[in-house]
Amino acid sequence: MYSLLSVWTPVALYFLRASATPSPHVGPLFARQIDRNDKNYYIGYHGDDFETPYAKYFNATQPTLSEEFISGLQESPYPHDLTVDISDAPKALNQPGYLELENGFSRLSDGSLSLTIHTEAPSGLTGEMLDWWFSWHTNDTRKYKLWNPGAHQYAAINPIAKEKSSQKSYSERYWNVTSFVDEYIGTTPYKLSISFFEPSLMGFSKENNESGVLGMVSAFVSLFQYEDQNIAQAKQGLGPLTAVLVHQLRRKPNGRGNEFRSRFWFGNLLVAGMSVAGGSEKLAHDLSVHCFNEMSHLGTFLPGLFEEFKMDVSVGY
Ligand SMILES: *[C@@H]1O[C@H](CO)[C@@H](O)[C@H](O)[C@H]1NC(C)=O
Ligand SMILES: *[C@@H]1O[C@H](CO)[C@@H](O)[C@H](O)[C@H]1NC(C)=O
Ligand SMILES: *[C@@H]1O[C@H](CO)[C@@H](O)[C@H](O)[C@H]1NC(C)=O
Ligand SMILES: *[C@@H]1O[C@H](CO)[C@@H](O)[C@H](O)[C@H]1NC(C)=O
Repeated sequence: MYSLLSVWTPVALYFLRASATPSPHVGPLFARQIDRNDKNYYIGYHGDDFETPYAKYFNATQPTLSEEFISGLQESPYPHDLTVDISDAPKALNQPGYLELENGFSRLSDGSLSLTIHTEAPSGLTGEMLDWWFSWHTNDTRKYKLWNPGAHQYAAINPIAKEKSSQKSYSERYWNVTSFVDEYIGTTPYKLSISFFEPSLMGFSKENNESGVLGMVSAFVSLFQYEDQNIAQAKQGLGPLTAVLVHQLRRKPNGRGNEFRSRFWFGNLLVAGMSVAGGSEKLAHDLSVHCFNEMSHLGTFLPGLFEEFKMDVSVGY
């Protein structure tokens, strides 16, 4: 039953999106560097992949899901008043302590869908490392695969001007960059375009010493195709056909290490498209597990990887 849903959901959504968005512009550079042929994709490392200088950070062991996370998923969907609308999220996520829902998903009253995922991070993981990771991993599939060895298949970016890719601040190297990736979410491979934007464009704080916020990554996610996105839309918030993700890195309120609070919001038309196919809850479930795995796993290798490769500044071609 699930396999049928997971086939139909992408198909229905693809047509919904195709009818609502103009076809993406594909310039010559784009065509040269982005491999759209998923026959070339595979999960994990094979052969030569192990010869990169960072291959020693490839660790195929999957994290163990936490009890809080599992029970959050089991009890989902939650009533909408337990969750936070994207327009209230910047303020809510900036408060000390926890919100009512830190694990689980929910349909909001406007029909949008919200996912919340909580994971642990080591105390040595800093906001600087997080920014460096997002500036570094996007240009090479083998880097991207370190993050989720059981699901990631492909990653590439369009050319980035040298002035941008070698900016002093790690964040300015990846804000406004779109990462084209292919990855399994549950049993279905998805092509995604993840466009990173400066969190303050939507009102999110990147740092707040009082509430322990150490870092924040935010992006638009577009499903099923590789397309550059207009970052200016960040000022308008969540559109009916858009999806937004944020990962907040924070000191844990109990002082024992750090934590990630990840959130996804899917616009109501996007959710309606999934629901017609019966699949929005299945995708919410699978994406939550996927996110749990990668955010937990990131903390196991990022401090070491950063120490070794932080000078490897220029991502690009
Ligand atoms: C490998 O990854 C698993 C899951 O994230 C983790 O529990 C384990 O500590 C990692 N091993 C090493 C050597 O980092
Ligand atoms: C990102 O794009 C916005 C909107 O075009 C622009 O204002 C901003 O300066 C850009 N930031 C970076 C770091 O490229
Ligand atoms: C930030 O918060 C920590 C922990 O509460 C505290 O030890 C430190 O002094 C604060 N730093 C600044 C610059 O306020
Ligand atoms: C990605 O960027 C690095 C620098 O960090 C560069 O050495 C490498 O060649 C780039 N990879 C690809 C596939 O272009």
